[in-house]
Amino acid sequence: MSVHTQRAASTFPHPRRRLPGLGDILAVSTASPTQSEFELSKELGPIYELKFGTQRFLVVTSGELAKQVNNEQAWSKLVAGPFLSMRKNLTGAGLLTAANSDPLWGHANQVLRPGFVPQAMRRYHGAMSECVNGLSELWANQTKSIDVSRDMSRLTLEVIGQAGFGTEIGALRPDYDYGFTDSLTRALTNVSRSANDLPFSQWIFRSRLAQFRHDTTELRAFAQQVIERRHATGERRNDLLDMMLHGSDALNALPDENIADQVLTFLAAGNDTTAGLLSFCFYYMSQQPEYFAAVRAEVEDLCGQEPVGFEDVARLKLTRRLIDETLRLWPVAPGYFRKATADQELAGRSIPRGTVVFVLTLGVHRDEGTWGHDADAFDPARWENSKPASNPNRVYKPFGTGPRACIGRMFALHEATLAVAELSRRFTLNTAGSSELHVHEMLTLKPEGFSVRVQPVA
Ligand code: HEM
Repeated sequence: MSVHTQRAASTFPHPRRRLPGLGDILAVSTASPTQSEFELSKELGPIYELKFGTQRFLVVTSGELAKQVNNEQAWSKLVAGPFLSMRKNLTGAGLLTAANSDPLWGHANQVLRPGFVPQAMRRYHGAMSECVNGLSELWANQTKSIDVSRDMSRLTLEVIGQAGFGTEIGALRPDYDYGFTDSLTRALTNVSRSANDLPFSQWIFRSRLAQFRHDTTELRAFAQQVIERRHATGERRNDLLDMMLHGSDALNALPDENIADQVLTFLAAGNDTTAGLLSFCFYYMSQQPEYFAAVRAEVEDLCGQEPVGFEDVARLKLTRRLIDETLRLWPVAPGYFRKATADQELAGRSIPRGTVVFVLTLGVHRDEGTWGHDADAFDPARWENSKPASNPNRVYKPFGTGPRACIGRMFALHEATLAVAELSRRFTLNTAGSSELHVHEMLTLKPEGFSVRVQPVA
């Protein structure tokens, strides 16, 4: 399905330089689409229209408007833009990219949901702890500065491999060559860019296309291998792969072809999102190193010299506030598409059923009308009191909204809280060189070129 509105929503503001046939491709950066959409909102206001070729959609950045568009009675998720490109070119109809009407989505959701309830985190906690320890060991022996985003991708990839599929990827071995993490990053970057690229640019930049094909082949081969290995050993484990391969008393297993799509989806949706979150969080902490001391004190208070246990994670309130505030300023999945299921009014104008809106979380989470005049400031203390008070429209949505919101939310929050707590206990990160934040877009967001020196705690 393409991104379109049934009737031109031309009464909404749009970028000035609109090219015949091509639309707004000059107004939105291919390399950093959502950041330039956020910049456009400062010029065009909290609702404006974008057009790429025949595809049109509205971009919404205010809390008030997001609240309306999040209403499930009159709106639903739409797989569009880069997510559509992801379905066609990378993951097939995995949970993230399957249409609402696809029966496989309902089946996969039912099969996998028990793997993501809060209690299920107990079974992943051991693997998560081991991986965090593995990264600690690497850092303890590190004399050079490190690229935080790359190391966080190593960590989260290993976690999803071990906790989700019982597979050791080897991303935390000292001699890891970054091959797999780089393939994943490049594939997702390509998916993100292809959504609003110039027509035929994939053909103009043939080497990029060839690289993309190579990367997707490698990723798919990995997914197949994970499945075949489990079939061959006949092993039963308490993990996501087992749920998909065997279903339950009440549910059939998923078809093998779809399991490969789901494995790729978890690698794509569950890895760099959490890695981006951790990297942004460490960025803010490195700007105010007293946060390291505060987290350290919290962990020592709670656990003494013992490792952070499963139950401890939910009690690390300060650590969690750092994470919540990071996801407010940098929702690493920076927006989601919605489609009107009824004719209605939006921002005082009539819009027909079928109108497509991109809720730019990156903008909504910095909307002064919702968050106050310090909306741009990193202030974890805003989460100390009741959340709704600082979030009147309930538009804090780093994990999306409605029945298609992130299934991996608990997994990501458990992993990130544990990692920030355990790593801060052992290290302080000092920015090496420039502390300016550059953000790379690859469907998700992550700091680029953010390197630090790891300083072990005495
Ligand atoms: C900080 C980390 C994460 C963030 C910010 C995040 C964000 C999101 C968002 C915004 C959506 C909704 C997309 C839409 O409406 O189009 C989503 C969906 C999804 N996420 Fe996450 N995610 C994170 C981590 C994870 C993890 C760790 C996993 C798996 C282990 C995961 C798996 C998924 C899946 C499968 C969906 C599709 C759900 C469905 O439609 O049924 N995510 N995520």
